[in-house]
Amino acid sequence: MVGVDREGCAGTTSAEAPLPELFKLLNRAFMQDPYPALAELQRERAAVPIENGGFRMWVITRYEDVRTILADPSLKRDLVKHRHAVVGQNLIDIERRPKLPRELRRSMLDQDGADHLRLRRTVSRFFSPSRLAALRPRIEAAADGLLDRIPLGEPVDLVARYARPLAVDCLSQLLGVPQWARERFPGWETAILTAPSKPAVEQAGRELMAFALEVIALKRAQPAEDLFSELVADTADGLGQDETISMITLLLIAGLEPVTAIGSGVLALLGHPGQLAKLLADPESMSDCVDEILRYETPFRMLTPRYTDHPIELDGVTIPAGELLLVSTGAANRDPARFADPERFDVGRCPRGHLGFSHGAHRCLGAELGRLETSVGLERLFARFPHARLAVEPGRARWRTGIFMRRLEELPVVLG
Ligand code: HEM
Repeated sequence: MVGVDREGCAGTTSAEAPLPELFKLLNRAFMQDPYPALAELQRERAAVPIENGGFRMWVITRYEDVRTILADPSLKRDLVKHRHAVVGQNLIDIERRPKLPRELRRSMLDQDGADHLRLRRTVSRFFSPSRLAALRPRIEAAADGLLDRIPLGEPVDLVARYARPLAVDCLSQLLGVPQWARERFPGWETAILTAPSKPAVEQAGRELMAFALEVIALKRAQPAEDLFSELVADTADGLGQDETISMITLLLIAGLEPVTAIGSGVLALLGHPGQLAKLLADPESMSDCVDEILRYETPFRMLTPRYTDHPIELDGVTIPAGELLLVSTGAANRDPARFADPERFDVGRCPRGHLGFSHGAHRCLGAELGRLETSVGLERLFARFPHARLAVEPGRARWRTGIFMRRLEELPVVLG
């Protein structure tokens, strides 16, 4: 294999058979461009074990397997309740394992079955079509205001100057994030998800938790017309304090995903001028274009872990019960068995069934809001600056490290 190295033996699980050796996937080349290594795995093996954050985890890359696994209700997310079943079996290096407060791990994304549904229902009305329609003018105005302030004719970082503040503004409006915190929470999100170091992850966890407690106190004292206020008021109706804290932090983190989609979209379109011209000639195709962006540059290389409570058989590979699974939606969305010529960015493709918003019970709750923000962000930018150009070679754009997310660190662009 070219892009994928192997290292020492992973040991054994509670099953009798010894596990295959661990794959070393997470090197610098993978962070910059994960697709060659993922394609190689996809061709060769249905699942491979790697080390991540001190744990053994199995990476699954083929579209059909990923979709089947995401739809399987017997697959668990709740690693707090079931930790005895998985921690001992999969922990390989305790030194590398960051410890986050338990209160941050009780969100809907961390729970299964009826508890997951109960939590999801608590906030789902905030994502109704009428609420989203009401947000559109606000997002458009925010986009225009940000574009007004970007200097023309010189390289600017479009992530810092446009994608991030746009997503922060929209999310803060929906959730009711106080003004003073708007600068701060994207930093915690970055640290938690891209793991620059174990102490930095743990510090970000403590700060997020302290912030959530401040939000709860603030919204109790001064309730307003926003999601956080209703969430705090609802606490009496069944959400535990730890679930409220986790819901607040999940929404702050998950709700910044449009930063990724807008950044990757601008890079893909400016890197493929023919595709940008096609989009500009037919602005109605924006919705398909957003889907193609989410397929071509899937915001998650891998989704955060699930675990199995029964052995899984995938094309000759047996994953024993109690193992951690990383499903690679990034790899699945480029599986040639599902999408013809998957390395080609094609805004006319209509990639139905792509997994950019995941699939199954945990499919993105904010998918329509994410689509709206991404569409508006791209529409307003290219309507005003159709001749924008990259100030970096497309292949040299800098991506964040960290196994889960595929987000640009920065995107130098010249407008005007
Ligand atoms: C283009 C933008 C977005 C993308 C690509 C995206 C992607 C995803 C993905 C892949 C998941 C599944 C994670 C997993 O299964 O491990 C997810 C879950 C979630 N997302 Fe999004 N997201 C976006 C925008 C948003 C926004 C704007 C919000 C909220 C304001 C949001 C809230 C959520 C929530 C609450 C979940 C957890 C759902 C559950 O566990 O049932 N997302 N998102």
